[in-house]
Amino acid sequence: MRIWVPLDSAAKALCADAVAEALAREAKARGMDVQIIRNGSRGMVWLEPLVEVDAGEGRVGYGPVTPADVPALLDGRMNSLGPIEDLDWMRRQTRLTFARCGVIDPLDLDDYAAHGGLAGLRRAIGLDSAAIVAEVTASGLRGRGGAGFPTGIKWKTVAEARADQKYIVCNADEGDSGTFADRMIMEGDPFTLIEGMAIAGLGVGATRGYVYMRSEYPVAIQVLERAVVIARQRGMLGADVLGSGRAFDMQVRVGAGAYVCGEETSLLNSLEGKRGIVRAKPPLPALEGFLGKPTVVNNVISLATIPVIFERGAQFYADFGLGRSRGTVTLQIAGNVRRGGLFETAFGMSLGEVVNDIGGGTLSGRPVKAVQVGGPLGAYMPVSKFDTAMGYEDFDAAGGLIGHAGLVVFDDSADMLQMARFAMEFCAIESCGKCTPCRIGAVRGVETIDRIAAGDPNAAALLSDLCETMKDGSLCALGGFTPYPVMSALTQFPDDFATLKEAAE
Ligand code: NAI
Ligand code: SF4
Repeated sequence: MRIWVPLDSAAKALCADAVAEALAREAKARGMDVQIIRNGSRGMVWLEPLVEVDAGEGRVGYGPVTPADVPALLDGRMNSLGPIEDLDWMRRQTRLTFARCGVIDPLDLDDYAAHGGLAGLRRAIGLDSAAIVAEVTASGLRGRGGAGFPTGIKWKTVAEARADQKYIVCNADEGDSGTFADRMIMEGDPFTLIEGMAIAGLGVGATRGYVYMRSEYPVAIQVLERAVVIARQRGMLGADVLGSGRAFDMQVRVGAGAYVCGEETSLLNSLEGKRGIVRAKPPLPALEGFLGKPTVVNNVISLATIPVIFERGAQFYADFGLGRSRGTVTLQIAGNVRRGGLFETAFGMSLGEVVNDIGGGTLSGRPVKAVQVGGPLGAYMPVSKFDTAMGYEDFDAAGGLIGHAGLVVFDDSADMLQMARFAMEFCAIESCGKCTPCRIGAVRGVETIDRIAAGDPNAAALLSDLCETMKDGSLCALGGFTPYPVMSALTQFPDDFATLKEAAE
């Protein structure tokens, strides 16, 4: 009998380790021949720990499982969820990037290869640099870290730069609130990221790669580091990648826990051992990045999507999506929501469908008030904007941003003035301090919102003015995007700024 118990951090937080231990203990006591595999999460956090059992008739799921459920589970007395692929949540997805996550043993390279792994790298090895870059361009893939910049154009810039050394840097400093896609894939299918980085290396002529990982991800660090060692031992990395005669190797580096180190230039400084402070652009990292050399800086999901593009072909990937947003988006549904988790779907689903239909509305059962999309720098989307389609341009037109595709749901008890204040406070705490609009502006922003709360009639206009200055004058997205949550709260939820209304009357 084979039993899968997730090693994913969310499942561990819900006692997956205790369940795995109880299963091993009970099986031993009963003299049962049980193999326990620690897999990634399937993404249904409300069912974690989600245990799957194959007693010879296929894999069926149980969840959430507690250690106390283990005897019943082994007796076959526990209610089964049936095959996980048959659940509505799974059937409604288009799992391309996350196809293997939760299915395979994350550290079994043969299991990985048996599920389509390495096919993309093998194909890329047969292509020259220009053809690799052209394939990525044709797929329409855009940066999944948040900015949505075309990945093919970024790679082309690096590929065409002349230098004795180039680098691939993976941004795994996933700092946005309500986001966990990077963590989930690194814990559940690390070879897909390694394969994506190796293809990137072949594509642009880089022989070294680094994954800059946040220190708050101990499980992902452990799994990815072990996967890199295995990949090296099995010839997927090193001087002769899969016998191609071409070299690519990589390392995992751990940050010290600053939100701004998710900004690419700040990340590069930190990677070089310097203080994580933002660099002015230009020069672009694509031309002068890590140690001053041409560097591809891509988010985990961008790189982890590369293998499927090469395995199935650019056109296959580009056939999914909406407008200029091609392929799939890995939605992370969190906050006050009934069914939270990872949901991968083609771009185009409406925000309302994601929140109400997929997420099942609020956990509290109260009406949804707002959804913050795109992390702490994303706008609060009111219910009146629920018809906005998940697409970069569609969100932009609605005054929001998709960012790294994290959604945090709030019910009608949320106080949006406090949320606006929190955005400014967050910016003040996390600011790297390099530019004035952010360093000083965020502090003044907190004070100005407090003045609105105290009924100062002039404070709202001042806040709008301050937000304009931060938006136009900040060096990076931290100061430049903080106005999104602040202004969306002010304009979409004026009732929460009631003292403002009272003062005007
Ligand atoms: P950006 O628009 O300045 O740049 C996007 C990317 O394209 C960068 O890598 C840049 O170097 C590259 N680029 C631009 N022009 C290029 C060219 N001609 N050739 C080659 N490369 C070129 O955006 P930025 O500041 O990198 O990112 C902002 C986004 O980050 C926001 O939209 C926000 O959603 C997101 N974000 C994500 C977080 C996360 O946890 N994933 C945290 C905070 C912000
Ligand atoms: Fe630093 Fe803020 Fe300026 Fe970005 S906007 S460079 S975080 S001070």
